[in-house]
Amino acid sequence: MTDLRRRFVEQLRRNGAPLTPELAAAFAAVPRDVFVAEGFQRRDGSWARPGTAGFRAAVYRDDVLVTKIDGRVAVSSSSQPSLMAIMLDALAVRPGDRVLEIGAGTGYNAALLAALGARVTSVDVQADVAEQARAALAAAGVPGVRVLTGDGYTGVPGESFDRAIVTVGVAGVSPRWLAQTVPGPIVVPVEHAGTHPVLAVEGGAEGPVTATVICPSGFMSAAGPLTAAHPGSHPAPVPSGGLIGFVPFAPARWSPALDSYSYRDLWYAAGVWSRRATHAALPDRDLSGLVLLDDDGTGGAAILPDGAVLAGGEQAHRYGTTAVQIVDRWLEAGRPSMRSWRIGLELAGDPQAPIWVPATWELRPEHL
Ligand SMILES: C[S@@+](CC[C@H](N)C(=O)[O-])C[C@H]1O[C@@H](n2cnc3c(N)ncnc32)[C@H](O)[C@@H]1O
Repeated sequence: MTDLRRRFVEQLRRNGAPLTPELAAAFAAVPRDVFVAEGFQRRDGSWARPGTAGFRAAVYRDDVLVTKIDGRVAVSSSSQPSLMAIMLDALAVRPGDRVLEIGAGTGYNAALLAALGARVTSVDVQADVAEQARAALAAAGVPGVRVLTGDGYTGVPGESFDRAIVTVGVAGVSPRWLAQTVPGPIVVPVEHAGTHPVLAVEGGAEGPVTATVICPSGFMSAAGPLTAAHPGSHPAPVPSGGLIGFVPFAPARWSPALDSYSYRDLWYAAGVWSRRATHAALPDRDLSGLVLLDDDGTGGAAILPDGAVLAGGEQAHRYGTTAVQIVDRWLEAGRPSMRSWRIGLELAGDPQAPIWVPATWELRPEHL
């Protein structure tokens, strides 16, 4: 193991990644730099290329590496390693397991799965991305991974798997994955209130299908029927400058403000109780957060991490009042964590390619 990778593993542990000895060994063994051989986009928009100053140090950080953009939109990346660790831990892979991965991307996560002893089939919708993943897996000498090109909705017809992991944000779960994956679980980031909480999903293709939340995440969205709109969809995230005329509506409740985990818990509950909850860049603040968006898409109410509510637009009073009620309700419920909800899923989306989407929620008292 190189010093760089040893420090990388220590950093993941410090950042709260649930590193079993097997998972720590996988992160130490797999050379992430080989999987970003074409470079990645830095936060300032420039590209970091192999061989340039600081490249390897940046690769072995607990950070997402954007590896392909379309215009200004990221369309492939190597996800944040500590998030990958949480998802892999939830997948509970055993040596010899057949694992279906949707979203091959760089191939790095597939290589980690292989290091855990899994036999991996990974599907990516972009042919050039899949080809680069194959090349990287070969260059790193990783056995036991097959990369296919296609829309992940179909999984791999005619095959079966022990577990499935989805590394791209979706609106719902393909019935094909449920049919092909026994016993499961399927670990999958599913849209909720403008973000993608990662769910552990269980059930058969015909239902019933249930889920619990593993952790918050902000994955890029999938192409195709996996992101179909459905009756329970929340509005799409609002970019910077999208909200207009927000002014204070209700004062702060907490000092210090909620930490990012508790704020995510409140946000998750807001998404359960309001179809208008989403993610937005907050006006006049260097902050993005939870907003109840009005039908115009420019007004509504924002709930800040300190509990203060801002409101704007023609229905500012109505949305501001609802926002205050949501904070009250979350407090009265005992500040439930996002992990305390049991989710029931229903079939919706494109009738030609339906998906199981979150539709009902109940609090699991033992997790409050
Ligand atoms: C965040 S990246 C995956 C990260 C990857 N697991 C890794 O370790 O680098 C998301 C990938 O999902 C792919 N994708 C998007 N929509 C898809 C779909 N409908 N089916 C399969 N792959 C899809 C994208 O092409 C992209 O490469």
